[in-house]
Amino acid sequence: MPKTTIVSPSNIAFIKYWGATDLASAVPENASLSMTLRACHSRSTVEHVDRSGEHEIRWRGTDGGLETAPPAFAQRVREHLDRLLDWAGESGFFRVATENSFPAAAGLASSASGFSALTLAVLGALGRAESHAMQSELARRSGSGSASRSVLGGYVQWPAKALAPDGAKDYAFQVHPAEHWDLRNVVVIVETGAKETSSLEGHRRARTSPYFERRLRDLPGRLEAVRDALACRDFDRMGAIVEAEAVDLHCVAMTSAPPIYYWKPATLTVLEAVRGLRSAGVSAWATMDAGANVHVLCQPDDEDAVAATLGGLPGVDRLIRDGVGSGPFADDAHLF
Ligand code: DP6
Repeated sequence: MPKTTIVSPSNIAFIKYWGATDLASAVPENASLSMTLRACHSRSTVEHVDRSGEHEIRWRGTDGGLETAPPAFAQRVREHLDRLLDWAGESGFFRVATENSFPAAAGLASSASGFSALTLAVLGALGRAESHAMQSELARRSGSGSASRSVLGGYVQWPAKALAPDGAKDYAFQVHPAEHWDLRNVVVIVETGAKETSSLEGHRRARTSPYFERRLRDLPGRLEAVRDALACRDFDRMGAIVEAEAVDLHCVAMTSAPPIYYWKPATLTVLEAVRGLRSAGVSAWATMDAGANVHVLCQPDDEDAVAATLGGLPGVDRLIRDGVGSGPFADDAHLF
């Protein structure tokens, strides 16, 4: 049977998805907007076997070899494979292998890139050429909402059904291609282990925060402001909104019941250093997902200065220098 291998990047949200009306299939409470990355990506090889059998799910282990994926991860993948078989009206099983360009121990979310790569590789293995809209929709149904943005390159918006003008769009679309603006993302790793509270749990608790409704009211205007600054490449205007938006999400998390504190002391150290960079005339703005690591956005001319300052801070394990990318692609280097 022919194999398909897809490399799919991760993405960093400027306006973040937080809270879902349907958690299992990631129907968001709010529209979000992200930049697709390039250095942080997942590679997934999928083979469809058209006879009865169990899905075989392997991943790249810490010793460098392919090994049977751990139960919790394998279960999520298995459910998505069944969902895709069902959707396609196919039978049989899949052989799957997956790896990340960034170490799993770096504490970076790999589910956006992972479920985007897996979904696209399954579609390839089934010989199904689908629209970006359908790819995005299917990736979303994995339960990793951010995966719905990773099927596209450049700058990507994922509307919330309820907020979309036609009431129907819940798939992501490209706002600008990567060539629109060469932005960089210096990822500052301060947490190398798995986070204590998953995004899934964060989404579940979001409504318990007294600030959640206020956040939902503010978001459409904030999204429009980011869209506008992005369109005219006004970095400082956009960066200020993006940084405030990340802090807003963390305020909601910290005031949920029970509260979720994703930040570590080193997160604040990095945020302070980013403000210091700005005072010194270097334009850099921070954003944080549901974790302690800080994504520092900057323009190419400032990247070295940003990396030099942040790489040496106490509590910083390492940096990953990333930037805007063009989205997933098929590749001949199969994992098995
Ligand atoms: C804070 O449910 O997509 O990153 O599957 O763990 O990646 P994972 O999370 P998901 O929620 C993403 C939450 C966020 C914001 C965002 O990326 O929009």
